[in-house]
Amino acid sequence: MNNSKQAGQLAVLGGAKTINTPFKLYHAMGQEEKQAAIAVLESGVLSQFLGAWHADFYGGSKVQQFEHDWANFFKVKHAVSVNSLTSGLIAAVGALGIAPGDEVIVSPWTMCASATAILHWNAIPVFADIEAATFNLDPQSVEANITPHTKAIIAIDIFGHAADMQALLALAVKYDLKIISDAAQAPGAYYHNKYAGTLAHIGGFSLNYHKHIHTGEGGVMVTDDDIYAERMRLIRNHAEAVVGQKAEINLVNMLGYNFRLGEMECAIGVEQLKKLPHLVARRQAVAMQLHQGLHGLLGLQRPVVKHDCTHAYYVYPMVLNLELLGLSRQIIYDALVAEGVAGLMQGYVNLHLLPMYQQKIAYGAQGFPWSADICRRDVDYGKGICPVAEQLHDQSFLGLQMCLYELTDTDIALLIAAFQKVWAGLDSLRASLVFQEDK
Ligand SMILES: Cc1ncc(COP(=O)(O)O)c(C=O)c1O
Repeated sequence: MNNSKQAGQLAVLGGAKTINTPFKLYHAMGQEEKQAAIAVLESGVLSQFLGAWHADFYGGSKVQQFEHDWANFFKVKHAVSVNSLTSGLIAAVGALGIAPGDEVIVSPWTMCASATAILHWNAIPVFADIEAATFNLDPQSVEANITPHTKAIIAIDIFGHAADMQALLALAVKYDLKIISDAAQAPGAYYHNKYAGTLAHIGGFSLNYHKHIHTGEGGVMVTDDDIYAERMRLIRNHAEAVVGQKAEINLVNMLGYNFRLGEMECAIGVEQLKKLPHLVARRQAVAMQLHQGLHGLLGLQRPVVKHDCTHAYYVYPMVLNLELLGLSRQIIYDALVAEGVAGLMQGYVNLHLLPMYQQKIAYGAQGFPWSADICRRDVDYGKGICPVAEQLHDQSFLGLQMCLYELTDTDIALLIAAFQKVWAGLDSLRASLVFQEDK
C-alpha cells in the first residue's frame, strides 16, 4: 500500500487516527471565583437563610447581590436563586398555581427535570413534538395537544437556541395558558433582542457543573411578575411555615422545600455572570469555525440559527441525511470516534419513552397520578406520538458537546479534519460493509 493511501485510510478501518491528544477540559473558574469563595469561607456565614418570617427569609448578602446582578444582566424585574434548576422548575410550576390533574405540555427532547417538575405537583405532562431545525417544541404540535385541561407549556431552549416564543406566546394568549421557559442550556442567547429565558411568565437557568457558567450546582429563576417571584421564594424556603404571616394568604401550592442556594455559590455566581458574555462568545466562535469547516459535507445538516436569534452552542447539533449517505449513523459515529472526535452524542432524549411514562408508575405502585380521578383522560406516551423527536433520536441526530472541552484553534482544525476525512472515506465505509456482508 502506498503512503498517501495509508494516510487517508480511516482509523476505524485500520488507518492512523486524526486526533491523538485529548482536548483540555472546560474550566470556567478563575482567580476571581477563588477569592470570592475564600471571602465567604472566612466570613463563616455559608448560608444566611432562615425558614421563618424574618429579614433572612430571603437569604444573605451574597444571595441578594447575585439575584440583583442576575436581574440586571437579564433585564428582568426578579431573579430568584435556587439550588438547582430542577428545584427552580418545581417552584415555577407551583408558583403558577398548577393543580393536580392539570395538563402541562412539554418537549420530550430535554433533560428529565423539565417534565418531572409537572409531576411533582401531581399534574400531567403531555409531550408535543419538536421542530427538526432547532429541536425545540413545534407550536403546531403544541396546539394539537391542547385540551380543556391544559394550563401551561414548558418550552425548552435546547442546546442554546430559543424556542419559537412568538408562536408559543400567541398560543398562550389564545388558550389562556402560562409559559415556563427552561433556558438551562441557553444563557446569553438572544431571541428577538431579548435574552432567551426572559420572554415567558417565568424562566429558568441552570448553574450545574456542565453549563456555560456554573456554581457546582445551582439555578436562577426569572420573572417580571411580583406575585410569581414571591411565590417561588416561598416555595424555595418552607412556604407552609411562613405563608400564614403574610398579609394576604393564598395557600395554593404553598407547600415548601429547601431549595436555597448558599452564600459561597452565590459569591461564585456573581463572578461567573461577569464572564458569561465572553464564555458564550467563545463557544460561538468555535461553532462558526466548525460551520465553515463542515460546509459542503454531503448529507450533514449543520445547526440552524433562526432569524433574529443567536445560539449559545451548549451543543453543536447536526443531523445526518441517511438516505443521501447510504450509511447508518452508528457507522459514521464509530468512524468519527475512531478518528479521536470526543464529546460526540448520538441522539439525545425521548422522555416519553422512559419507563416511568411507559408504565405510568410515579408515586407508589398504583399509577398515581395517572390512575387517579384527577387525571381526566388516558394520556398517550406510546412510541409514535413524537415522530420527529423519535426519528432524530433513533436515527439521524449527532451533537458535539461544546461545554465539555476548551477547544483551541488547533483542536478545532483537527476536529474539522476528522470530519472531512470520514466524509472522504464514505465509499470505503460502504465498501467495508459490502465486504462484511459478503463474508
Ligand atoms: C434543559 C435542562 N433543563 C433542566 C435541567 C436541570 O438543571 P439542574 O441540573 O440545575 O437541576 C437541565 C440540566 O442539565 C437541562 O439541561
